[in-house]
Amino acid sequence: MNKPTIFAVSNQKGGVGKTTTVVNLATALSALRKKILIVDLDPQGNATTSLGLKRQMGGKSSYSVLMGRDQISESLLETGIPYLYILPASQELLGVDLELASVDRCQFFLKSAVSQLDDFDYIFFDCPPAVGMLTMNALVAATDVIIPIQCEYLALEGVADLLKTIEKVRRNFNPNLKIKGICMTMFDGRSNLSKSVVQDVRNYFGPLVFETIVPRNVRIPEAPSHGKPVMLYDFRSVGAQSYVRLAKEVLDREKEVKNG
Ligand SMILES: Nc1ncnc2c1ncn2[C@@H]1O[C@H](COP(=O)(O)OP(=O)(O)OP(=O)(O)O)[C@@H](O)[C@H]1O
Ligand SMILES: [Mg+2]
Repeated sequence: MNKPTIFAVSNQKGGVGKTTTVVNLATALSALRKKILIVDLDPQGNATTSLGLKRQMGGKSSYSVLMGRDQISESLLETGIPYLYILPASQELLGVDLELASVDRCQFFLKSAVSQLDDFDYIFFDCPPAVGMLTMNALVAATDVIIPIQCEYLALEGVADLLKTIEKVRRNFNPNLKIKGICMTMFDGRSNLSKSVVQDVRNYFGPLVFETIVPRNVRIPEAPSHGKPVMLYDFRSVGAQSYVRLAKEVLDREKEVKNG
């Protein structure tokens, strides 16, 4: 049976490029004929709408699957992009922290749902900008974490908390959870601040930081309003090309792990 690599794309800070990274990395890998599932775990549902689909309300969604109401395999939607599927978000995800607060083993609900899937190569969790029950479920179910960091002032704010949470998850629930890499986003080549943030993050995290740095590129925020990943909206844009390079880097890191 094919065991998928499962990426939790997480950073507690809002607006750093989590959803953009999920949608575009997933699309770039699907273009290489890898079968991909995006699980939209954010009540905002930005990954769902970025792919031209509607956030669910009351229907089959990551919420209904998490709550054990629906089977995951019956709740996936096609995206219109070959090899790329999504489990859409629902606004009901907003209630998960309260609803699951005192439920036994609630950290494992997502893990047990995705373990029923056996035909995906990669699964991506688009996490909300908070370290609550949804992010906890993502980190428990994931094999790897990808952390997008925006090339901006206070870039590392919140990352320390995420690292502490990852440590806690390793100790208690998922000892093999790895950080696959740090992805620097929204880099502005004309700004000294952007350059110094990249330097700081590289000094702190060393080789964990991906070589590929995603530049600030106007095609990236334009694409979701057309319901498309930037790769399909404007393949030649620097934004799209940077995610193609990032996908290659992710695959290279996978090979390194497999070859020991
Ligand atoms: N490289 C980029 N260049 C320009 N704009 C970008 C880039 N990456 C992301 N954006 C824009 O920045 C905004 C935030 O990005 P995104 O939604 O991916 O962040 P997020 O971390 O998922 O946010 P949230 O924490 O709210 O879920 C979006 O409008 C997105 O289109
Ligand atoms: Mg998001």
